[in-house]
Amino acid sequence: MNRFPDRYRKVVIAELTGDFRSSTRVVEEAWSDPGPGEVVIRNRWAGCNAIFDKNLCRNKIRYVDVKPPFDMGIESVGEIVAIGAGVTGLQDGDPVAVTKLGSGYREYQRAPASRVVRIREATPEILTLIPTGISAMVGLERVGDLRGGETVAVSAAAGGLGHMVVQIAKLAGCHVIGITGDESKLELLRQLGVDRPINHRREDLQAVLAAEYPRGLDIAYDSVGGTVFDAFLENLAHRGRLVISGHTSDFDQAIENVAQPRIYRKLYWKSASVRGFQNQAFPEFFDDAARRILQLYYSGRLRALVDPTPFVGLESTADAVEHLLSGRNRGKVAVRIG
Ligand SMILES: NC(=O)c1ccc[n+]([C@@H]2O[C@H](COP(=O)([O-])OP(=O)(O)OC[C@H]3O[C@@H](n4cnc5c(N)ncnc54)[C@H](OP(=O)(O)O)[C@@H]3O)[C@@H](O)[C@H]2O)c1
Repeated sequence: MNRFPDRYRKVVIAELTGDFRSSTRVVEEAWSDPGPGEVVIRNRWAGCNAIFDKNLCRNKIRYVDVKPPFDMGIESVGEIVAIGAGVTGLQDGDPVAVTKLGSGYREYQRAPASRVVRIREATPEILTLIPTGISAMVGLERVGDLRGGETVAVSAAAGGLGHMVVQIAKLAGCHVIGITGDESKLELLRQLGVDRPINHRREDLQAVLAAEYPRGLDIAYDSVGGTVFDAFLENLAHRGRLVISGHTSDFDQAIENVAQPRIYRKLYWKSASVRGFQNQAFPEFFDDAARRILQLYYSGRLRALVDPTPFVGLESTADAVEHLLSGRNRGKVAVRIG
C-alpha cells in the first residue's frame, strides 16, 4: 500500500468576505511528489496568527494580493515523509518546523529544504519559537536595540508574541512592565518574570507609568495600539524606543483620527524614536534568531506557553482564530492537524 495519500485536505480562502469563518473552506488537494531541493512534510500542528489570517480575508496585507482560492496558515511543525533530489542534511522522518505563507493549515505540504528548520520533536511549543519567538527576538534586539538593565514595557504580554518578548527582555537583565487587559492573566505575567504587571482596563496606564517610572521607558514594545500606544509614547525615556509591532485593538476598524500635539514635540527633546517592525522586512536575522531561540528553549531558559484550549482538525481553525480574537488566549494558539 502507498505510504502517502492520493489526496489530502487544506484550508483555503474561497471568497473574500472579511471574516475568517465565512471566507474559508476545507478543500482537497492531490498529492504531488517533491521536486528537486524540496521535501514533503506531514503537518502535525499549525500556529494561529488570527490578526494576519483575518487581514488576509480582508485582503489588507500590504505585500500580499489575495486571489481565491488562496492557501492559508503560516507556520507548522511536522515530519518529513518524502525527499526530493539533491536534498542533503535532512532525512525521512525528521521533525521540522516551516514558516511559509500558505503552508500551515493543511495536512501535507511541499516545502523547499532551505525553508525547513530541524527540531527535536514536532510539538506545539515549537510554534511559540518559530516564527513567533524569532519575531520577538528580532523586534526587540534589532529594532528596539535591546540593552541589558533597561526598563521595557510590553503590551499583550501574556500573548503568543508578548510572552516571548517579556522573557527575552528578562534574560537580558531588564526590568519588565507587562500589560494585559485581563485581570486573570496578572498572575501568569508574574510567573513569566514580569516585575510590574498592569491591567490597562483596571488601572490608568498613562498615570501608573508616569508615577512609577518617572525616568521613562527605554523600550516600549507594542502590539495593541490605541490608548496603550498613546501611554507608551507619552512615557518614553531619554533615547527611548517605541516599537510598533501591531495594533490588535483596532486592526479591523476604520482608521481613527486623533487630535494630538505633533509627534516631534514628544520625541525631539528626548531623542526618542518610534520604530515600525514587520518581521518579513528583516529576513537576514531569522537564521541566527532561530538558532538562539531554540537553544534557549532546549536549555530550559525559555518557557513556551501554548494556550490550553484544544483545537483539533482543520475544521477547528475558525474556532482557533475567533478564540485568539476574543483576547482570552494565554500564549500561542495552536491547531492540531494530525
Ligand atoms: N510585527 C511582527 O512582525 C509581528 C509578528 C507576529 C505578530 N504580530 C502582531 O502582534 C500581535 C499579537 O499577535 P499574537 O498572534 O501573538 O496574538 P496574541 O498577543 O496572543 O493575542 C492578542 C492579544 O491582544 C489583546 N487584545 C485582543 N483584543 C484586544 C483589544 N480589542 N484591545 C486591546 N487588546 C486586545 C489580548 O491580550 P490582553 O487582553 O492580555 O492584553 C489578546 O490575547 C498582533 O497584532 C499580530 O498581528 C506582529
